[in-house]
Amino acid sequence: MANDIRADIEKRRTFAIISHPDAGKTTLTEKFLLYGGAIQLAGAVKGKAAARHAVSDWMEIEKQRGISVTSSVMQFNYNGYCINILDTPGHQDFSEDTYRTLMAADSAVMVIDASKGVEAQTRKLFKVCVMRHIPVFTFINKMDREARNPFDLMDEIENELGIHTYPMNWPIGSGKSFKGVYDRQNQEIVFFTSHGGAHKAESTEVQLGDPNLDEMIGQEAHQTLSDDIELLDGANYEFDVNEIEHGNLSPVFFGSALTNFGVEPFLKEFLRLTPPPLARETSDHEVVDPFNPHFSAFVFKIQANMNKAHRDRIAFMRICSGRFDKDMEVVHQQGNRKMRLSQPQQLMAQDRTVIQEAYAGDIIGVFDPGIFSIGDTVCDPAEHWRFTGIPTFAPEHFAHLRQLDTLKRKQFLKGTTQIAQEGAIQMFQDPGRGMEEIIVGVVGPLQFDVLKYRLNTEYNIEVRLDEMPQEYIRWITNETDPESPPSLYLTTDARLIQDFSGKYMIIYSHEWSLQMLKDRNPGLQLAEFGESKTL
Ligand code: G4P
Repeated sequence: MANDIRADIEKRRTFAIISHPDAGKTTLTEKFLLYGGAIQLAGAVKGKAAARHAVSDWMEIEKQRGISVTSSVMQFNYNGYCINILDTPGHQDFSEDTYRTLMAADSAVMVIDASKGVEAQTRKLFKVCVMRHIPVFTFINKMDREARNPFDLMDEIENELGIHTYPMNWPIGSGKSFKGVYDRQNQEIVFFTSHGGAHKAESTEVQLGDPNLDEMIGQEAHQTLSDDIELLDGANYEFDVNEIEHGNLSPVFFGSALTNFGVEPFLKEFLRLTPPPLARETSDHEVVDPFNPHFSAFVFKIQANMNKAHRDRIAFMRICSGRFDKDMEVVHQQGNRKMRLSQPQQLMAQDRTVIQEAYAGDIIGVFDPGIFSIGDTVCDPAEHWRFTGIPTFAPEHFAHLRQLDTLKRKQFLKGTTQIAQEGAIQMFQDPGRGMEEIIVGVVGPLQFDVLKYRLNTEYNIEVRLDEMPQEYIRWITNETDPESPPSLYLTTDARLIQDFSGKYMIIYSHEWSLQMLKDRNPGLQLAEFGESKTL
């Protein structure tokens, strides 16, 4: 492979950013863009008056609810690196989307509010991160406000999330007296002068032994810092790159995304430690090296109607190896056909740029005429790779979905099917009743709201959703006839449903019903996971 391609791949860093809502994920992302020169003035994209949403929020419902529903992708350059940030929904109801996004990332940044510590969603999202075994970096944000004791915060992360931590830097003061951070490796103090959050903060580096330190940060802060350093050095924190790589140890940084204090030191150090594009495994256990000259990518997300100006469907792909050229021919492995990926583009929220080339590590969006599914592989015709699939989460909420205007049947089915293909919902039916009455399953109930809203705004369909009491699902693995439902002796809380490939499953409300269902139906084989591996 030409050296320039190797260099292009090596400089790529692709990571996801996760946090409990309001911890400052959006602000931090925006500040990364500011430091990368992708935007000139932070706040320009996220002003109070103009709805408080950064470049990465695009769907109306996100604006109304102030949450991120879908994940978006941003690319920018900084210090010789080419960075791809994958934003993730903060709400637990969309953790499946977060999981898919993490499949496309090589590491994750976890943002924590310094006054709140580990919050409910941090715990849930972190769990999803752990499933991927990728490095997790922690940014403790909002140090410009009254913060909790940093040692307590470190303990909490370790105890609540079950991960070891290593403080890479240490805050000097907090709240109004937050001055900057102490860089442990270089034993120097980086203190900042603010020019307002919209601009980069000016930083000054001073050695720990500098005689003017008292004057610069104040005697009290200096004393506290000296005490903290002594404690830190005596504490049981061990730096181990191998442990970071496997997601067992999280390097921790302190700062304030709002004032830009500590943002640049974090970005620099994070980029140094986070891995370049990682190798990927195929379902035949072949490991595809990112530097392999043959192009390959997999679909991790499909999104229709992202922008009303472009009523189309985009498949997001993570490039796993080689280089992508705009007019190259590829094979869609699952569809077993050669094709050219049309309108390849890089996205910056609503702005799309058609790209000529992209490299392993990059995320591209391509026009999807309805052929791709999540987890599909496309690659150079010389190869037969199929990357391991992306598991789906077992739905925990079910509802009957009915359209109110029966004349719009076709539109209704089209909309519901498309949203299901995106992986935003799962579609089932009452055996034998076909499309007459659809049952939808979701991981979190907010997904129902999104479904209703999207059917209305994108497909002009009014629907009624009647939630069902069932919370559990098991797939029937016995041989069954799609045309004739198996006759079963069900518990009162259970129902037999069918997916659109003809497979049967039982949904039920009480955990304890499972044993009863097995007892009542000798020979019945139930699996926790469907055909596509379910988590
Ligand atoms: P999220 O994406 O994780 O949900 O959080 P987001 O960045 O939207 O930040 C949530 C709120 O926290 C915002 O305030 C934001 O300005 C504030 N914030 C983010 N980082 C910091 C920080 O380092 N220090 C302080 N003090 N505040 C921070 P808001 O009032 O909800 O929005 P806005 O009116 O400022 O836009």
